[in-house]
Amino acid sequence: MKHKVTGEGIGPEVAAATQRILDAAGVSIDWEVVEGRAENPSETGQYVQEAAVESVRRNRVALKGPMATAVAEGAPSINVGLRKALDLFANLRPVKNLPGVKSRYENVDVVIVRENTEDLYSGLEHEVVPGVVESLKIITERASTRIARFAFEYARRRGRKKIHAIHKANIMKMGDGLFLKSVRRVAEEHPSIEYKELIVDNACMQMVLDPQQFDLLLLPNLYGDVMSDLAAGLVGGLGVVPSANIGDEVAMFEAVHGTAPDIAGYGLANPTALLMSAALMLEHLSERSAALRIQEALECVYREGKRLTPDVGGTATTAEFTDAVIAALQTS
Ligand code: NAI
Repeated sequence: MKHKVTGEGIGPEVAAATQRILDAAGVSIDWEVVEGRAENPSETGQYVQEAAVESVRRNRVALKGPMATAVAEGAPSINVGLRKALDLFANLRPVKNLPGVKSRYENVDVVIVRENTEDLYSGLEHEVVPGVVESLKIITERASTRIARFAFEYARRRGRKKIHAIHKANIMKMGDGLFLKSVRRVAEEHPSIEYKELIVDNACMQMVLDPQQFDLLLLPNLYGDVMSDLAAGLVGGLGVVPSANIGDEVAMFEAVHGTAPDIAGYGLANPTALLMSAALMLEHLSERSAALRIQEALECVYREGKRLTPDVGGTATTAEFTDAVIAALQTS
């Protein structure tokens, strides 16, 4: 099986660490390394490298490093471009405490399912007149129903008991209203799963006050992006939360965090999020025992707490942390 690994900033550092650990876990992977960013986009108008899209389509699965996007100017996001080009409609982010990682709460275990293709991420913006910009929020019945089916099906398979749909349909009565109506129809087909709705601002407050009440959150794209980082902050931050982008044909796994330019090149990045994303990828590839062994080795290193990277309170380098996980794998 071939997979793709790339990334900017700390991407190559955490990708190399993850590859070393997967090798040590005895998973046989033939890595196909591809750049995600196209060359000369200003000449071609093509921002996402076509070879990357083709590679993921061919191999059907990919492990992706983070890629930078300029703020308030410049090219569109390559990350969003890849998700759209590959129709990776479901973004899945399991958020759970890791032993030994200081956090505000214990026993947080919530899965976030975010619609990944539309909403304000449609990238449709224009200047109406100077000083007035319109950004289009696109919500369709098709995409809302598709993500709802994914969430309820995931809950059924994984024994999740309760789904909260998050919205702002009191204000965006049509757009978020359509999202909710579509989700409600799917909820009716799954009477064994408790279904609730929360307005997004209240949901944020509830999440900060009492995250253990949540089991699975189902959200449109933008609220999903914001609330999943909020949730990550409750269990120790972006360095320790994985994610998967899933479509009907292909799946792409990546850490929730970005390129971390402030620490790139210093050997201090925490590879845990990408490693956990790789473990999700192994589960997807039916390599469950390897995924479990990696997760156990990781938890063992965190429980001992001696070789942790600075973002989670330690002093270890990326390489020292990686060596510790490999040593834990070899003694398990
Ligand atoms: P960021 O996630 O890169 O960094 C936020 C903070 O978390 C920084 O202090 C950073 O040092 C720390 N951090 C992140 N990952 C870490 C890790 N593995 N180990 C230790 N510390 C870590 O977010 P920021 O600064 O907002 O974005 C930087 C760039 O990344 C931007 O260009 C943004 O567009 C891009 N980005 C890419 C994503 C992707 O490829 N999926 C996701 C989020 C941001």
